[in-house]
Amino acid sequence: MRNILVTNALPYANGPIHMGHLLGYIQADIWVRAMRAMGHDVIYVCADDAHGTAIMLRAEANGISPEQQIATVRQEHIRDFDGFGVHFDHYDSTHSQENKARASEIYLKNREAGNIAIRPVTQLFDPEKGMFLSDRFIKGTCPKCKAEDQYGDSCEVCGSTYNATELINPRSTLSGATPVEKSSDHYFFKLPNFAEYLQKWTRDAGRLPVSIANKLDEWFENGLNDWDISRDAPYFGFEIPDAPDKYFYVWVDAPVGYMSSFENYIKTSRPELNFDDYWKKESGNEVYHFIGKDIVYFHALFWPAMLEGADYRTPTSLFVNGFLTVNGQKMSKSRGTFIKAETYLQHLNPEYLRYYFASKLSDKVEDSDLNLDDFVQKVNSDLVGKVVNIASRCARFINSNFNHTLSADCAEPELIESFIAAGDSIASAYEAREFSTAIREIMTLADKANQYIDEKKPWALAKQEGQQQQVHDVCSVGINLFRQLAVYLAPVLPTLAMQVQHFLNLDRFDFASRQTVLLNHEIAQFQPLMQRVDPKAVAAMVEASTESLAAAPAKAEKKAVTVKEKKTETSAGETAVIGIEDFMKIDLRVARVLDATTVEGSDKLLQLTLDAGEAEPRNVFSGIRSAYTPEQLKDKLVVVVVNLAPRKMRFGISNGMVLAAGNGDGIFIISPDSGAKPGDQVS
Ligand code: MSP
Ligand code: ZN
Repeated sequence: MRNILVTNALPYANGPIHMGHLLGYIQADIWVRAMRAMGHDVIYVCADDAHGTAIMLRAEANGISPEQQIATVRQEHIRDFDGFGVHFDHYDSTHSQENKARASEIYLKNREAGNIAIRPVTQLFDPEKGMFLSDRFIKGTCPKCKAEDQYGDSCEVCGSTYNATELINPRSTLSGATPVEKSSDHYFFKLPNFAEYLQKWTRDAGRLPVSIANKLDEWFENGLNDWDISRDAPYFGFEIPDAPDKYFYVWVDAPVGYMSSFENYIKTSRPELNFDDYWKKESGNEVYHFIGKDIVYFHALFWPAMLEGADYRTPTSLFVNGFLTVNGQKMSKSRGTFIKAETYLQHLNPEYLRYYFASKLSDKVEDSDLNLDDFVQKVNSDLVGKVVNIASRCARFINSNFNHTLSADCAEPELIESFIAAGDSIASAYEAREFSTAIREIMTLADKANQYIDEKKPWALAKQEGQQQQVHDVCSVGINLFRQLAVYLAPVLPTLAMQVQHFLNLDRFDFASRQTVLLNHEIAQFQPLMQRVDPKAVAAMVEASTESLAAAPAKAEKKAVTVKEKKTETSAGETAVIGIEDFMKIDLRVARVLDATTVEGSDKLLQLTLDAGEAEPRNVFSGIRSAYTPEQLKDKLVVVVVNLAPRKMRFGISNGMVLAAGNGDGIFIISPDSGAKPGDQVS
């Protein structure tokens, strides 16, 4: 038996869990369950990542304290993980006493070891907000190509990178104020002290996926830089010891959350365990971090260096997942593919998604696609059509003809033996995180089981005189084969597995328990185990995830981010300031509603036919059905954006956008006073 500590990346406490997050959390949860099923002691912890500017500003925008903000979001995250069967032994927050103590200790040990430097840094400061601005919160004119409206670190037009202080006419995106240059002391972690150590560490066997180790080599070649680990007040985080008004940058105490969450797990649930047995240098126990590919830099460089500098052990391995796309593209609110965990759960069974992800995941750092048509097809054909079908075909005979009891003899010892034997390679595939391989092997077995039942046709035998023993034997073999499949699928489908365990009346359901064939064994009454995926439910989920087309506030374009810079600070509650030239680009016209109809399959949209003074009427889909009936709209004058790129929607092409006001409580169409004519310009 191995002692293993598993962690998942800590989700930020400023937004909901979505499908993309779930890929990594479900992956780790499956691995944890599989390793436990193989008899290992596995502890699985996580926490909310509660600190940073983004969370501070989000709380401010919501009019609540950061503490209230993170408490609410933490409950939502716990609820969502729970809904998907992602079961942590402990779910903490990085905003805890234990985390503060541990982060400070790691910092102080590094300071003693000479790994901390202090030097002044000149940065742009928002005199209105009274805070230093990270690059994300500054915009201005590119110093190289003079393109306007560029972020503080790089230009999206000419691609050059620069310091925010070099921007021409810079302004704060938080207040609109002109930032001033201001100097303050910053604390640095001297990463170059660990260059040699890290170069070896990242190449240790099994430490990292090879593709990632190769990528890191490029970083080593470019040379490592000191890492700025301090932020000036106001900041939501932990104060740095002996440095008043200086706070640890969120990425300092975030990974320390792995340790403090584990520490609190021991305190609250497993007092017999010893923290040092997992985190001391010579510890023989294993520690694995499951993370997404965008946060490798922090986990493969800063984190091991901080641990090494403080004389702690480093993780045994980093398990890195690629990114999730939905229907082949980045998740998008307008396409309805930015699907929140909560929304999914309102429409679909979480085990469908666990299965679908498992069928796609391997140990490679590859992106995965959630193709919704394929999702429906695969779940229906594999889980419902193949697996569950075996039980429903056999159980009814055992229940009604044989007093719920399986045959005392095994009619097909070799067939059952081959299913038991296959478990070894399935277990290895799970252990190696080759879930798609495991699923493929399990489905091959399911095909075999169905073939067997198809050949023996118990339903036909049951009608024949003198074939009762045969029926009993065949169905008992079928149930035994089904049991093997359910044991193998249990890490992926814990709820289904539990139902099967009750149905089969079994005390154990771990991998080793499969070795005993069920003979003369009483089972319970069969209950339907899993429904087919209803494509309408999928459509409804997409619909519910589609951001209303009317009244959607203009959002600042998100800038492209590189691996290094991502996640430093994200925008929150920011209102983009645009110039008059930008506003003039929007062509707004008065239009008359010629026709309005409901849209089959959508409870949000209305389809509008508009006369905007053009040769042809325009077709526009508008998310206003909750507020207007088609009758109320006919003949009404509205304002429409006529130069918006046409958008392909599930129901057709939308050519423009009707303006409406709204703050979530209602939708109010904007209508010109009488006298305006279709085609009139609105400015
Ligand atoms: N708070 C940091 C992690 C700190 S760990 C000490 C963070 N949070 S996050 O909420 O942005 O992301 C949490 C996890 O979800 C990360 O592993 C991230 O890579 C992953 N994903 C977020 N969006 C994703 C996809 N679209 N696809 C796959 N994984 C994604 O990063
Ligand atoms: Zn430029």
